[in-house]
Amino acid sequence: MKIQDRTFVVSGGASGLGLATVHTILAAGGNVAILDLNADTGASVIQQLGPSHARFFTADVSDTDSIASAVKDTIQWIKETGKELGGVVAAAGVSTPAKIIDRHGEGFDMTGFDFVMGVNVRGSVDLCRQFLPHLVQVEPEGEDKERGVLVLVSSSAAFDGQPGQVSYAASKGAIASLTLPLTRDLARYGVRVVTIAPSLFDSGMTALMSDKVRASLMKVVEFPARAGKPEEFARVVKEAISNSMLNGTVIRLDGGMRMPSKM
Ligand SMILES: NC(=O)c1ccc[n+]([C@@H]2O[C@H](COP(=O)([O-])OP(=O)(O)OC[C@H]3O[C@@H](n4cnc5c(N)ncnc54)[C@H](O)[C@@H]3O)[C@@H](O)[C@H]2O)c1
Repeated sequence: MKIQDRTFVVSGGASGLGLATVHTILAAGGNVAILDLNADTGASVIQQLGPSHARFFTADVSDTDSIASAVKDTIQWIKETGKELGGVVAAAGVSTPAKIIDRHGEGFDMTGFDFVMGVNVRGSVDLCRQFLPHLVQVEPEGEDKERGVLVLVSSSAAFDGQPGQVSYAASKGAIASLTLPLTRDLARYGVRVVTIAPSLFDSGMTALMSDKVRASLMKVVEFPARAGKPEEFARVVKEAISNSMLNGTVIRLDGGMRMPSKM
């Protein structure tokens, strides 16, 4: 599918992998609606990108009403520009590490679990759910009669979650698992679904990681021996949008790394 002259929604587009995706879509001639939490950060991102092809809409993806308001504003902007909706990149995500039994011998607090599931799983599904009625109305394009693409973000933690990652791994495993049924639900509308499962990438999320943890992870990397760059993630998103044969799949983007149990 062509990126040029279409509008893509990027949740979590104010930072890290989402922001790199925004840059890549803009460079390919698309418009981008960034949905993220912080209006001030959004304003400074739009100042850097310029307002003609990118807009920021405040949204908390764990809140249905908040998404609904951003959907309304995005669709209004699309009407003004005439650049049809082309897809959704659900890159908003959070991680709150916690071992299932804490140091006092208590089971972990379910608030943290609900928070991670609420943003990563509920948020991704609800975001797609609310944009899809608009996407399936778009005029189909090309010989395949394609309407659009959903790009979801899983993680290496879906397959080799580390200690303290029960919540995060559960959320990213859910994203990997729902990729195929979502694809099957949407095939008749000409909408594809591609999930990307990165390992360690430089971003706001991994900047919080201690030097010790980062150094241990670098020891188990196969090749190349470094963290991924956000633009390398964004290039896969671009391919996911452009290449119509990519559908119903989870692409590991990890340099061959398998996360170890002990660090
Ligand atoms: N960086 C990595 O190594 C890595 C590895 C695997 C998967 N991921 C996944 O990639 C995605 C992007 O993460 P990142 O590494 O770029 O992190 P990041 O922290 O740099 O960016 C995440 C963005 O999501 C936004 N966000 C968080 N909660 C939100 C909410 N409720 N509503 C709307 N926006 C919200 C944040 O404000 C932020 O802008 C996440 O789903 C993350 O789990 C990252």
